[in-house]
Amino acid sequence: MTPNNLQPHLGFGLGLRSEHYLDLIENRHPIDWLEILSENYMIAGGKPLYYLDRICERYPVVMHGVSLSIGSVDSLNENYLKDLKKLAQRVKPKWISDHLCWTGTQGINLHDLMPLPYTEEALTHLVTRIRQVQDFLGQRVLLENVSSYLTYQHSTISEWEFLRAVAQEADCLILLDINNIHVSAHNHDFDPLIYLEAMPADRIQQIHLAGHLNKGDYSIDTHDHEIIDSVWDLYAESVRRFGHISTMIERDDDIPPLTTLLTELQKARTISAGVLTQHQTAISA
Ligand SMILES: [Fe+2]
Repeated sequence: MTPNNLQPHLGFGLGLRSEHYLDLIENRHPIDWLEILSENYMIAGGKPLYYLDRICERYPVVMHGVSLSIGSVDSLNENYLKDLKKLAQRVKPKWISDHLCWTGTQGINLHDLMPLPYTEEALTHLVTRIRQVQDFLGQRVLLENVSSYLTYQHSTISEWEFLRAVAQEADCLILLDINNIHVSAHNHDFDPLIYLEAMPADRIQQIHLAGHLNKGDYSIDTHDHEIIDSVWDLYAESVRRFGHISTMIERDDDIPPLTTLLTELQKARTISAGVLTQHQTAISA
């Protein structure tokens, strides 16, 4: 597999939430694609799968997981991977993503996306496991940078150097969460532009945008607020650097009506178009 196999730009999407099932099925909305939470549909039957099938008839869909635990020292969970592949056969997603993290050990799922130590040992461990997952699924996966609230004393490189090395050595793709960069930059006092600077543009397949909670000394990645201006600014900078990237908004709590999220999504379109127009003007001047 070579890096130039990036999927086409899907446009501007939203995370699929059950509150919006009917509205999305019954009405046409300016949404180019939807991201589903894989684990919500890795079940034998029931209403979620019924609605999912209807959604897949109407919108391009990508799959996003939270339980791969690619960084764990436990063996890869074969049953999880089989269920994930089975869901992919049903959904036929444009791509499959999860997080660069670990979520548990000794079979216990902490239901939290824990950061990794950024060491050579962790890198080697991850690369082997990502390749195994990609071989099993028969496609590249996207891994997302998580927001974090702690760092490890024995990390030897930065998060951005680590993510870049993982993507290149495992030949996987990146789901770049702009809000997570902003939250972690606040919590660990680094310049978010350095993070963007280090990203390999030819491996960024998707962008996440979301709101968070600023508690003063630190920020929490809550996904229950509107996107703040400094995250929009960072998004504009990412479009400037990486061009057209499939972009979506994640909202997981205090979920507003679809029309509210569509207004926010329109802002992403406007910012992206503005940056790209400026870029074109600069080239032709
Ligand atoms: Fe995200």
